[in-house]
Amino acid sequence: MGMIPTELASIDGPRVETRWRRIVTPIPAPATLPMIERLRALEPRSMTGMSPIWWHKAEGFLVSDGQGNQWIDLTSGIVVANVGHAHPRICEAIRRALDQKLLATYAFPALQRANLLEKLVHLSPIPDSKALLYSGGTEATESAILLMRRHGRSLHPKKIGILSFLDGYHGRTMSASLASGVPQKADWIQRQQVHHYQIPFPFCLHNPWKQERNEPCNRACFDQCVIHLHQEGIGPEHIAGIIVEPMPGWTTWPIPTDFAQAMADWARQNDILICFDEVQSGCGRTGKFYAHEHIGVVPDLIALGKGLSSSLPVSAVLGPKWLMDQPAPGEMSTTHGGNPVCAAAALENLCIIEDEQLVKASETTGKLVLEQLRKIQEDNPHRILSVHGRGLFISMHFNRPGSTKPDSALADAVAHEAIRRGVMMFPTGRGYIKFTPPLCIDPEAALEAVEVIRQCIQLVCES
Ligand SMILES: Cc1ncc(COP(=O)(O)O)c(C=O)c1O
Repeated sequence: MGMIPTELASIDGPRVETRWRRIVTPIPAPATLPMIERLRALEPRSMTGMSPIWWHKAEGFLVSDGQGNQWIDLTSGIVVANVGHAHPRICEAIRRALDQKLLATYAFPALQRANLLEKLVHLSPIPDSKALLYSGGTEATESAILLMRRHGRSLHPKKIGILSFLDGYHGRTMSASLASGVPQKADWIQRQQVHHYQIPFPFCLHNPWKQERNEPCNRACFDQCVIHLHQEGIGPEHIAGIIVEPMPGWTTWPIPTDFAQAMADWARQNDILICFDEVQSGCGRTGKFYAHEHIGVVPDLIALGKGLSSSLPVSAVLGPKWLMDQPAPGEMSTTHGGNPVCAAAALENLCIIEDEQLVKASETTGKLVLEQLRKIQEDNPHRILSVHGRGLFISMHFNRPGSTKPDSALADAVAHEAIRRGVMMFPTGRGYIKFTPPLCIDPEAALEAVEVIRQCIQLVCES
């Protein structure tokens, strides 16, 4: 079975020629190996987590390596290109911004920033909103954590704790990585020492609170979290805010409404703020503009990034004026946040999402894809534990035979096989594959990719 190994070597495989996919060389293309080696000599090992496929051009939902090979992209970069890669209107907006000859403004007043902020405030479900622009998603979540802590501390010096969920992901800066739940990502510091606390995510599939079969995680499950925290000596008086992905990237599973409502009630009763991290799930990805629309709770803060621009680095925090205005002038800003070229790209991106009705497209194409992926699950009931998601935010979870434990070898082998057949995916290393193409993907291309996945599962399971 031909997995792409971590050592660099091209492997001969099937040649492919369809309307969208083209594989005409061994993969990775031999001519790209020296370039990849050059990169590997320059970058740390941590940058080799993706398959070694050279990205030369990405347009719409197609990616090519400059050597004649072309893939249907199920990654959208890493869930960035919601309107498609290199959308002509975004390229044009960037060109216009360049022609104005204004490439950096910091916090000096400038038009592109004002235009984008106006749009964001208009799209905010939070009453009386303001917004602040950054570059990376991690800056937005870090900033939201800081705002929640400032507010908590203003109520009581001990109210500075941050509650987050196991296995979540909020970025790599300090508080963001402490709020992220994969233990080894923050093993350099004791969470409790810096007032970070975690509870299980209500991912019903793994049944964290041992519910009766088929019963979704609910209010009683959240109550158990509160009891557990209490037993650890942590009460609501220690907690300033909760940060959570309403639909985490690794589960694509929305927080069940009942659980979310219990969390929101507890937070409101105890002066605890809630930030929904929508860096990955926002901007139409899940078939709603915000993923939290699926769960019926409006947060106090929202972090956005990735699909906010579909291109250049832009992220944002949205929150109510009373909270956003707490830091003094100059206290909450970054050099590149709201960069005029990036802001122009993000504004155009938001207009494209509306004009091309991409939220609806995400919902409709997502339903088609989910239906077909579920058929694959029916054919492989012993190896596929679950297929779920909303919009074009779908994951397929593999399990070891006779167990519900994730089978990461199988999931990654499927992703690698799909890449060798012209479907771009990312190996997750966690027992699932993810279906997150640009929202503009032609439904026929999406179904072609599903068919390739079906063949790859068959191939890998039989080998
Ligand atoms: C939910 C979520 N929050 C925050 C981040 C961090 O964003 P960035 O990598 O742009 O810093 C990510 C990135 O994957 C994410 O998925």
